[in-house]
Amino acid sequence: TNIGTKIYSGKAKDIYSTNNEYEVIVKFRDDITAGDGERKDNFQGKGKYNSLISSKLFEILEESNINTQYIKLIENCSILSKNLKMIPLEVICRNIATGSLLKKFPFEKAQKLKVPIIQMDYKNDEYHDPMLNDDIAIALKIATQDELNQIRTITLKINKILSEFLKEKGILLVDFKLEFGKDLKENIVLGDEISPDTCRFWNIETLKTLDKDSFRQGQNQNEVMSIYQQVCTMIVDENDLK
Ligand code: C5P
Repeated sequence: TNIGTKIYSGKAKDIYSTNNEYEVIVKFRDDITAGDGERKDNFQGKGKYNSLISSKLFEILEESNINTQYIKLIENCSILSKNLKMIPLEVICRNIATGSLLKKFPFEKAQKLKVPIIQMDYKNDEYHDPMLNDDIAIALKIATQDELNQIRTITLKINKILSEFLKEKGILLVDFKLEFGKDLKENIVLGDEISPDTCRFWNIETLKTLDKDSFRQGQNQNEVMSIYQQVCTMIVDENDLK
């Protein structure tokens, strides 16, 4: 596969075209942001850790018959992926009440949610990713009711698969964010990444933070990168670590 031109640049990843219109290359950068892009930094190694962690988790999902964008890890930081038309939704799934949920609603801190909560935010920088409901998403032509239902069903399935896999690795899946897109046949496909940037992972024994909350809370580069490295060694097979 030949890498083509950059077709999209996000806060931490770039998307490149390839010589095949069905495929793109996703490149993970070392950039890290927090607070709606207010804080920015560059931590060497982050792109590598996130690409390895995300590849592993997408492989686990593919093995469980979830349709994902992932094709293969080409090299550290670069993933060959299916070309999707992305749906501008941040689909958040929560097993434990923390983060922005506590700021908006009277949940108890770190309360275990009996039934996972799915929340959808409109991915739009200008409007600062507001929470929306089905009616708003449909009126904005972001997705149809059927697609929203599909997204919810797939997200709950992903929550089960990943919670179980991570538990075996000593990690509690507290919450996470997914993004979906449509392939050329209009199928709903999981896209983007699943990494410590987009999930809350807690050590199952100590409940210590193993994700980007370390950066949000002001830990330094060494501390944050040693956490990402730790997650990588906890979930990625040693043979895959180059
Ligand atoms: O901040 P909040 O509690 O709403 O985040 C819920 C989950 O979604 C967290 O795992 C967070 O990392 C993820 N998230 C994300 N990108 C955003 C907002 C939240 O990956 N723009």
